[in-house]
Amino acid sequence: MKQPTKDLVKSPAWQALKEHYEAIKDVHMRDMFAEDPLRFENFSTSVNDIVLDYSKNRINEETMRLLMDLARQAKVEEWRDLMFSGEPINSTEHRSVLHTALRNRSSKPIRVNGRNVMPGIKAVLAHMRDFSEQVRSGEWRGYNGARIKSIINIGIGGSDLGPHVVCESMKPYSQRGLDVYFVSNADATHLVETLKCVEPETSLFVIASKTFTTQETMLNAFSARKWFMDLVGNEKAIEKHFVAVTTNVELATRFGINEANTFEFWDWVGGRYSLWSAIGLSIALYLGMDHFESLLEGAYEMDQHFLKTPLEENIPVIMALLGVWYNNFFDAQSHAIMPYSQYLERLPDYLQQLDMESNGKTIDRNGHRVNYLTGPIIWGQSGTNGQHAFFQLLHQGTKPVPADFLIPALSQNPLGLHHRVLFSNCLAQTKALMLGKKYAEAVEEMRHQGYSQDEIEEVIQHKVFDGNKPTNTIIFERLTPKTLGSILAMYEHKVFVQGIIWNINSFDQWGVEYGKVLAGQIQKDLSTPGDVENHDSSTNGLINYRKRVYFDELDKNKLD
Ligand code: F6P
Repeated sequence: MKQPTKDLVKSPAWQALKEHYEAIKDVHMRDMFAEDPLRFENFSTSVNDIVLDYSKNRINEETMRLLMDLARQAKVEEWRDLMFSGEPINSTEHRSVLHTALRNRSSKPIRVNGRNVMPGIKAVLAHMRDFSEQVRSGEWRGYNGARIKSIINIGIGGSDLGPHVVCESMKPYSQRGLDVYFVSNADATHLVETLKCVEPETSLFVIASKTFTTQETMLNAFSARKWFMDLVGNEKAIEKHFVAVTTNVELATRFGINEANTFEFWDWVGGRYSLWSAIGLSIALYLGMDHFESLLEGAYEMDQHFLKTPLEENIPVIMALLGVWYNNFFDAQSHAIMPYSQYLERLPDYLQQLDMESNGKTIDRNGHRVNYLTGPIIWGQSGTNGQHAFFQLLHQGTKPVPADFLIPALSQNPLGLHHRVLFSNCLAQTKALMLGKKYAEAVEEMRHQGYSQDEIEEVIQHKVFDGNKPTNTIIFERLTPKTLGSILAMYEHKVFVQGIIWNINSFDQWGVEYGKVLAGQIQKDLSTPGDVENHDSSTNGLINYRKRVYFDELDKNKLD
């Protein structure tokens, strides 16, 4: 399905928003709150225990109505239904986009090319349950009869970030005595430092790669296998200590992994959407399959909310439209993610791939260069740490940075005053960002503190805050596997809706391929003696410098 309008910025809904922007751009949120005592009630919505408060945004009812018109103009609901029904909406790769099928808890069949994919999904889930229970119960033993104590997930991108954020966030649900490690970087340091913490006889390596060809993952997998063989010296032992998660069973078998210990998934699962598939095996091992299934359940509930709730109350749709509002009408270049939860520390990293790999595109679905901004730069850090790092720029910098604040109402670790302090800081920041501080208020405050008129005049301009900085607050009862599943699915759908509005394919990633090809060429050039001249002068210079000064070292370390 092509977009109904050829030129998005000239479309009626876009033009109406542009006009509306001119009318609202100078209105301050503090006045909006003063005028409407029900602003929180009017601009908040919920699903299960998750509440989205979007009242601290530069919007009024008219803004939301016009944004909904934009969503309808872009046919968001129709595209959503196409995705859920297995249509090949990933047009450049001719693939369906069915991560939602992986968490389909209903008995509804879902078809790809006429074939119901649900029996295959259920079979893999059963395989994951069987295997993870064997490992966790101690029935599965290493080659010398020792129990598995360490899970080492070797993968990168979607084969790392998804399982990693879940395992980190769900620590309170883990079985202590079974540790999980994530190795992703091509820098050997990542693997070497991890291997210092584990023993071969009690380790289980999960080689997670959709393609089983990704350079970093294969490098780490082969080096891990060499480490294991050097210490154990028994080829037969490998099958007890290495398992694979991949769509490429053939290559996993060639690596030496027993087909029975290979967990399959399918090309209609995008890498950054794959934690719900067998890529979640490390999650199942670390947390247990019941918790993994709760995660799926939570995501399914968000899917149902996204599918069935009118756009006006639909959390991912609202979040997506607010993002478009700032990205395209206020020219905000980035969007910050502030989880006020130490467990969610890795959420910004995970969302960077989800959002930036999906919507970092310049060419639209019709093959034309866009003339509007697409995906924002996603960044952030857990609160309260971020407050002491970059919040200064949010409060008084020159760049608009819309932000999501996420916070549990109840802590997993109710220790003394900690959660009250955390919670109050979260709310204080969003309040300060919204309200700002007027000149007169700053003067009054300083007078109250006993400063003289001269002292006040000297610094007063620095103590004024413009405010009017937009934030969403997402509050949920407690960070459980189910809630986490819902939150991650919420962001997936937000990214999807934005991709539809910007008329781009959110499910390919051609931009990442180019660097991979060049890295292959440079790797070859680094391993042959003599200067190279086939690159630009900077790249030639750096390669030749490295070779002239350190060639022996390179040669010594080259891969077998
Ligand atoms: O970074 C590009 C990418 O293809 C991601 O989309 C993917 O998640 C990652 O590489 C890892 O790919 P694979 O799972 O095939 O090793």
